[in-house]
Amino acid sequence: MTRKMFDGPSIASSEITPESVWLNRRNLMKAAATGAVAGGLPALALSQPRELAQLAAKKGDCSGCQAEDDLTPYEDATTYNNFYEFGTDKGDPVEHAHEMTVDPWSVEVSGMVNKPGKLNLEDIMSGFDLEERIYRFRCVEAWSMVVPWIGFPLAELLARFEPTADAKYVAFKTLYRRGEMRGTRSFTSVIDWPYREGLRMDEAMHPLTLMTVGLYGKTLPNQSLDKLRLVYRSKYCFTSIKSIVSVELTDRQPRTSWQELAPQEYGFYSNVNPEVDHPRWSQRYERRLPSSLFKPNRIATQKFNGYGEQVAGLYTGMDLAKYY
Ligand code: MTE
Repeated sequence: MTRKMFDGPSIASSEITPESVWLNRRNLMKAAATGAVAGGLPALALSQPRELAQLAAKKGDCSGCQAEDDLTPYEDATTYNNFYEFGTDKGDPVEHAHEMTVDPWSVEVSGMVNKPGKLNLEDIMSGFDLEERIYRFRCVEAWSMVVPWIGFPLAELLARFEPTADAKYVAFKTLYRRGEMRGTRSFTSVIDWPYREGLRMDEAMHPLTLMTVGLYGKTLPNQSLDKLRLVYRSKYCFTSIKSIVSVELTDRQPRTSWQELAPQEYGFYSNVNPEVDHPRWSQRYERRLPSSLFKPNRIATQKFNGYGEQVAGLYTGMDLAKYY
């Protein structure tokens, strides 16, 4: 994983959206969520990010957020990204992710379920009132951002496929399309594609574990966004696999891409833990975007990303320095 100093963020102005625009936007969202707008989902993509940031700020679930956790400006959250399918530089996704065809999008759920199958994204989303599904929380790496995600608990999606009692883990795989993903064709590519991630079943079924379909009110990705993404709130953000097309329930612990690449650095669990240093750097602090060399925005990292009360019980008796 390339980690380097953040060089010069663009700081968005936080203009106030007129209430009429905001209300209109609410109606649009409602209509789109219920399929009343022609084309349904694309209507959501028409919104200006800052309008939706306001919506999220009003409606967002902020458990685990610190009082001073303002939303990260949209520009910062969507131009400084890791999406190795499009290159290893943080600026590559915003430049190249538009080369990926994202419509139609479907996900296949297989393995230890009574009802295996494939669902397209519209069918998945039609079951949720997304206006009520905006979650505001931070994504933590060496840097961090606070994003209003739109999504729903993974458990609600898995329930549709009826997991069997044998299922112990969930294995996720990303879309792999060489022709549209320049990073996978690059000679510097080190990942064994497709990109993979995994969760234990109890982690997957925890209500804090989300499948996200957008952020800042945009349910369709622009060039830098993901299509269907896992977000596990108490883990480091690199576990948050983007562009999922395959979910397999299994009784064997899956290997994740980072674990495979550097097992001494990245484990299966990857819970946010300031007490355990990464072999090459301390994990006590994160740089909240926007942050720059001259104006560093350094804050103390919280264990389990601040969600210890909700999730620590899942790891009782485990040495988290060993099972990192
Ligand atoms: N998902 C896919 N498919 N491919 C990737 O390269 N990178 C991971 C994760 N999800 C990655 C991925 C890493 S290393 C990080 S840090 C986060 O996405 C970055 O999320 P962000 O771009 O929203 O900050």
